[in-house]
This record gives sequence, structure tokens and C-alpha cells, in this order.
Amino acid sequence: MHIDGSSALVTGGASGLGLATARRIIGRGGRVVIADISEEQGGKAVADLGEAARFVRADVTDETAVGQALDAAQELGTLRAVVHCAGRGGDHTRIIDRDRNPGELATFAEVVRVNLLGTYNVLRLAAARLAGNEIVDGDRGAMVLTASVAAFDGQIGQTSYTASKAGVHGMTLVAARDLAGWNIRVNTIAPGIMDTPMLGRLREDIREGLAASVPHPKRLGDPDDFARLAVEMLENPYLNGQTVRLDGALRMAPR
Ligand SMILES: NC(=O)c1ccc[n+]([C@@H]2O[C@H](COP(=O)([O-])OP(=O)(O)OC[C@H]3O[C@@H](n4cnc5c(N)ncnc54)[C@H](O)[C@@H]3O)[C@@H](O)[C@H]2O)c1
Repeated sequence: MHIDGSSALVTGGASGLGLATARRIIGRGGRVVIADISEEQGGKAVADLGEAARFVRADVTDETAVGQALDAAQELGTLRAVVHCAGRGGDHTRIIDRDRNPGELATFAEVVRVNLLGTYNVLRLAAARLAGNEIVDGDRGAMVLTASVAAFDGQIGQTSYTASKAGVHGMTLVAARDLAGWNIRVNTIAPGIMDTPMLGRLREDIREGLAASVPHPKRLGDPDDFARLAVEMLENPYLNGQTVRLDGALRMAPR
């Protein structure tokens, strides 16, 4: 698909990986609607990205709000690309604590609701729009979802986050098969440790330790590393149904 002249929806685009992706899409001549729950960050992002960007306040688990974000993206041009970055961290809960109390069910459900249900909500609502496009270069549209390396090597305390992200990975091939008849491709990025505001809150020595744990290159992932892969996934016509780890060969230890 051609990004140039098309419109894209980037969820979670007010910050981190989504913001870097919005910037790269605009750099290639696309227009972007950022859908995010943070109005403050969304406003700043649009001021930074300029004319080609719009912000719509939308919770990705909300059908009406995502519908409005898709409406706004279709007003900007032909919506051909969706990059779904919105998500939250886990609840850092052990399955049982030191006193043998079982972990909270409500926080587990909330992580899965935002990360997995939110992904399916965006996937289904966006697919319904992309399916109405004319085919250009073989595709009506393309989508990129966001999992995590935790989908494959989740750490202790990450049951909810891992379950939600493994769900996104599992959904990817099914979605690609399901939407193949509509000429819509779906791929997923599983990032390692990326230098986004999520991580910026950590102490400097902890950040340095994390960077040193990456085999090569020995640094945290740059949000633009993610954006480059997202753009490649949108543009490469033969890339479909795939989850790609973006992690500098990192494999997470149990803790
Ligand atoms: N940063 C990392 O190391 C890392 C690693 C693996 C996976 N990820 C995943 O990448 C994605 C982006 O993370 P990031 O590091 O850019 O974080 P970030 O906090 O910088 O950005 C996430 C954005 O999503 C928005 N958001 C959260 N919940 C939302 C909701 N329900 N509806 C709409 N918007 C919502 C936030 O407001 C924020 O702007 C997340 O899915 C995260 O799980 C990040």
C-alpha cells in the first residue's frame, strides 16, 4: 500500500511508539488521526506534528469513540493504514503472594480488557472500514498491532500483561487469514525494551542495566525503530500474518 496521500489511524499515538509512528507516516506523505485517551498529550502531539495530524479522544475499548476516530481518519483521506499502539502495562501481581493469597482477578481482567479487548475492538471496527476501499497494489488496507516480547518470555508478575499480549500475537495469523478475502493484511510487532515515557519513569541506573541486557545493539529500543518496522509492515505487500520481535536479540529472564 502507498502511505503517500493516504490517511492512517494511529491509536496510542499521543506518546511513545505511536507518536513516532505517526511522525514517520506523516514524513512519508500520509495524514494521521491520533486516537488516544490522553487529551493533554494528544494536543501536544498534534501541535508538534502539524497540519497533517488530528487528535480524537478515544478509548480503544469504546465502540462509539473508535468509530468517531475512524470517521475523522476517513475525512482526512482514504483510510488505508491502522497502527494500533494503545495499551497499558501489567498489574505486577504474583499468582499467589507470600501469605498464599491469590492474585487480584479484577486487575487481571482490566489489563486484558484494555490490551486484548481493545485490540480486537480496533481490529474489527477498522477492518469494516478498510474493506470498503478500492484495491490498490493488491491491498484494500493494512494493519499493524502491538504485542510485546512478554507474549513469548513473560516475567514473574506479568501473567495479565503476558496473557493480553500473547492474545494479540495469537490473533494476528487468524486476522490475516480471516481478512485475506478482503485484501487486508495484518501484522504485529512484539517490542523488547523501548525507550518511551513508560520507561522514562525508571531510575537511570535501572535504565542502564536494562540497556546492558540487550545483546546487540546494547541500548534500549528507539521509538523510531518501531516506527520504521510499522511502516515496512504497512508497505510490504508480502508481509502478512506475522509477529516480528523487535528486541536486539533480547530474551527476558524469569525476573
Ligand atoms: N515501551 C516498551 O518497552 C514496550 C515494550 C513492549 C510493548 N509495548 C507496547 O507498546 C504499546 C505502546 O507503548 P509505549 O511504550 O509507546 O507507551 P506510552 O505510554 O508512551 O504510550 C501509550 C499510549 O497509549 C495511550 N492509551 C493507554 N490506554 C489507552 C486506551 N484505553 N485507549 C486509548 N489510548 C490509550 C496512552 O494515553 C499513551 O499515549 C503498548 O501497547 C505497550 O504495551 C511497549
